[in-house]
Amino acid sequence: MKIVVIGGTGLIGSKLVKRLHEHGHEAVPASPDTGVNTLTGEGLAEVLKAASVVIDVSNSPAWEDAAVLKFFETSTRNLLTYEAAARVGHHVALSVVGTDRLSESGYMRAKIAQEKLIKESSIPWSIVHATQFFEFLKGLADVSIEGGKVHLPHVLFQPMAAEDVASGVARVAVGPPVNGIVEIAGPEQFRLDDLVRRRLAFLKDPREVIADPNAPYGGAKISERTLLPGKNARLGDTRFETWLTQSAAQIPSAHPQPKRVAS
Ligand SMILES: NC(=O)c1ccc[n+]([C@@H]2O[C@H](COP(=O)([O-])OP(=O)(O)OC[C@H]3O[C@@H](n4cnc5c(N)ncnc54)[C@H](OP(=O)(O)O)[C@@H]3O)[C@@H](O)[C@H]2O)c1
Repeated sequence: MKIVVIGGTGLIGSKLVKRLHEHGHEAVPASPDTGVNTLTGEGLAEVLKAASVVIDVSNSPAWEDAAVLKFFETSTRNLLTYEAAARVGHHVALSVVGTDRLSESGYMRAKIAQEKLIKESSIPWSIVHATQFFEFLKGLADVSIEGGKVHLPHVLFQPMAAEDVASGVARVAVGPPVNGIVEIAGPEQFRLDDLVRRRLAFLKDPREVIADPNAPYGGAKISERTLLPGKNARLGDTRFETWLTQSAAQIPSAHPQPKRVAS
């Protein structure tokens, strides 16, 4: 099956392409790096020829509220238009658990707009809602700084490894469209501030993490269970300690700089 992965060069996209190849599919990564730009439409008609499925795991390069909204609205509109012309049978997109509860956040409003366009389109669809990635914990600290300290609420969350995100998305993509939302999550629950503190300690990052009940998450005020998935979420296998040990083996520097801070 030909499966086009929009954002196929990113954190999740590259793992997804690899996994789909291993399962015998023709997985084609598509991004500006490969000559495909969903904002301008460049390369879309060509790459979508004979594609059965399109998976959108792209992300906005700019993070201001207006820029991220423009990215997801324009790119999703373009993508769906070209998919309809190419008679693509299944549009799969990656979004975030609890998106609809986080509309105070500009990023989440953009994801809500993306999801709305997909639901209203003529293409059969599946939306995968994932919880926060383990890979995102340091990035979360970076965007939660107040007075030199990391301020985060002491709320529950159930984060997961990017590898498990990729396998969860791949599983949905090779199945029939659900015309609905599938939730995926990690195997364990933690407190947001606790886990970020553990991640920073592991990286020997000296920044102090403060449990602050008023601290927002990506601009949104959240409560105890806002970030948790529902009881039917499909759970990944990778536990945090296992991922931490594996990531240490893969990362040459003690202070890795992620290419971009994800949602
Ligand atoms: N971080 C989290 O905890 C979390 C949780 C749940 C869901 N998500 C969702 O996961 C998705 C993927 O995140 P990620 O961390 O894997 O993203 P990422 O590593 O930042 O990768 C983004 C990808 O989008 C591509 N892209 C950017 N502009 C594009 C354009 N105009 N046309 C086509 N492709 C474009 C990039 O291509 P280039 O490399 O060529 O620029 C790259 O391949 C996002 O939609 C995010 O909302 C994130």
